[in-house]
Amino acid sequence: MLERVESRMRQFVAELEDEEIARLFEKLPHGKRLRAKLVLKIAGESDEAVGLAAIIEMIHAASLLHDDVIDDATVRRGVASLNATEGSKQAVMMGDILYSKGFEKLVGFDRRIASKIASAVTQLSIGEMADVRLSQQFHTDLDAYLQMIYQKTAALIEATAATAAILAGKEAHIYAVYGRNLGIAFQIVDDILDISQSSEQLGKPAMHDFEEGKTTLPYIYLYEMLDTKDRERLKSLHAKTLDEEQKAWIRTAMEESGALQKAYFYAKELGDEAVTLMQEAGEASLADIVTAMIERNF
Ligand code: FPP
Ligand code: MG
Repeated sequence: MLERVESRMRQFVAELEDEEIARLFEKLPHGKRLRAKLVLKIAGESDEAVGLAAIIEMIHAASLLHDDVIDDATVRRGVASLNATEGSKQAVMMGDILYSKGFEKLVGFDRRIASKIASAVTQLSIGEMADVRLSQQFHTDLDAYLQMIYQKTAALIEATAATAAILAGKEAHIYAVYGRNLGIAFQIVDDILDISQSSEQLGKPAMHDFEEGKTTLPYIYLYEMLDTKDRERLKSLHAKTLDEEQKAWIRTAMEESGALQKAYFYAKELGDEAVTLMQEAGEASLADIVTAMIERNF
């Protein structure tokens, strides 16, 4: 069913009538297409639903192109990132093109749909800025972290579910709560996997968040659980390139202290709420998406 979304995106790009853009677009890896799956599962496979899914995936792809430039990333979804192979200028411009083409198509939708997606993209951009700001120093501010991941990741997933519900004439609020919980849990699981999985498994460098200065939920919990000496050791490693011994120390501390497990429970509880909501709404396959997302290992 995702094939129709892929070809709609290709069609939007073809409308630009530019070979270079089409070539760069084909180089982008597809990823999990979580947002497109949500639209189709909530709204069915009507022409409009496929269009909305394609628009949201194009905006998401644009945000990742910009994020890789901001994060100086070299790998995305298991392959070299566009900024690494084509340079940052190309990656930024390609992001701009996908983003604005998506918006051009979005204005053709019901005003409520266009407005929800547009505000979510504003949130996502503010969230990215907050992420960069928070990364400048070691912090243990749980509320700031949760607000940032809501904006950076969950806002667009929330808007995806809500707008698909509007398209299908379903109760938008329930789907918005579902999307919000799914999005926050998704980012927390992402932050856990950065610590618990290998680079091969992730398709991007492992243990990289802390090197980039990101004090994610497991690090916030770990700091709370360590004694004064180990807290200082953890802080001294913040935003530094870590050697194997330092990585091993963090991994062991994360597991032995239960910090990783505590972060997992936080995500699991949000996920369980989303599962219950969807079971009550008779949406078994949307409940399954949450379970698979929580249990994933990449
Ligand atoms: C990935 O986070 C980044 C995001 C989910 C949002 C990025 C948003 C922007 C760059 C704002 C610009 C938006 C548009 C539409 C042009 P991450 O770095 O934690 O995850 P990663 O490990 O997958 O890179
Ligand atoms: Mg990034």
